[in-house]
Amino acid sequence: MTRFGIIGGGLMGHGIAVTLARAGYHADVFDNDPAVLARLDDRVGRSLARLAVPSHEAQALADRITPVGSLPELAKNAQVLIESVSERLAVKHEVLAAVEACSAPEVPVWTNTSVLSISAIAKAMLQPRRLVGVHWWNPPYLVPLVEIAPGADSDPALVTHAHELIAALGKTTVRLHRDVPGFIGNRLQFALLREALHLIDEGVCEPDTIDTVVRSSLGLRWAAVGPMENADYIGLDLTRAILGNLAPWLSTRTTAFPTLDRLVAAGDTGRAAGRGLTGWSSGRGGEVAERLEAGIRHNLRPEGSRS
Ligand SMILES: NC(=O)c1ccc[n+]([C@@H]2O[C@H](COP(=O)([O-])OP(=O)(O)OC[C@H]3O[C@@H](n4cnc5c(N)ncnc54)[C@H](O)[C@@H]3O)[C@@H](O)[C@H]2O)c1
Repeated sequence: MTRFGIIGGGLMGHGIAVTLARAGYHADVFDNDPAVLARLDDRVGRSLARLAVPSHEAQALADRITPVGSLPELAKNAQVLIESVSERLAVKHEVLAAVEACSAPEVPVWTNTSVLSISAIAKAMLQPRRLVGVHWWNPPYLVPLVEIAPGADSDPALVTHAHELIAALGKTTVRLHRDVPGFIGNRLQFALLREALHLIDEGVCEPDTIDTVVRSSLGLRWAAVGPMENADYIGLDLTRAILGNLAPWLSTRTTAFPTLDRLVAAGDTGRAAGRGLTGWSSGRGGEVAERLEAGIRHNLRPEGSRS
């Protein structure tokens, strides 16, 4: 059975390890921060608890996830390597060059980048054909979607291999025809975020009003009917007319984002700072994490059992 090696044991790396363990695989995890490795067991345990995995099963799953202290040790046993380190191109370059130096050339390398170009990441590799974009969503053990994208030099056989392995986990996979920064999901997500910030900049509403609108309308609709199907449903002639009227008013900003820039400059960066677009009293971060996972679990329940 495929043994995975995950580089980066943070939020995503540990969550991907949990997903793989639940599917019966073994995952070794390396992180260059010893404190992250030391906390891995605990973090895995908490994620399994949130998934309501009974404790006797949780131990067996946790036993499939092994923290390892060096990249060569990780690469020695891995049949697939998953890069999930910090989202900085220089860091990805450094890690992938090191990965190539200590792993067999036939071992595929998947990058979990959110928005960097796969081809740009592969620039650090002597064999860019090994790299495939495999983008999970947080929390990876709950969110069904995994997006798969080739870089300009990816071996198509390795893209297919990634697609098949991920589909065999029971995930919903989509395969992009070509490499674009942000895959599909983050491009859609950040197009909406840009417009939301534009409405705030223009004095139309407060940030929490945006959340009320999305959670009480679009968020509910999209899980049932996607925007393409909806466009057909209401009619493409009407869709065209609405878009033609609205498009001139939508944000096309590419650099300055006034509200965001002001908050970041003031150090009001959100949860960790205690202030951001909304207020963050102590304990709210944990409550949001719980609500996120509970909400996704609720939406994934068979239709008849939802109340
Ligand atoms: N957070 C999300 O919702 C999300 C979703 C999908 C994809 N991603 C992507 O996944 C990747 C990881 O994100 P995250 O949210 O888990 O971040 P994170 O900060 O929680 O984890 C990143 C880990 O990488 C480790 N690291 C940094 N440099 C390293 C190196 N040279 N060698 C080994 N380990 C190193 C850090 O110590 C840290 O533990 C990023 O590319 C991110 O864009 C994040």
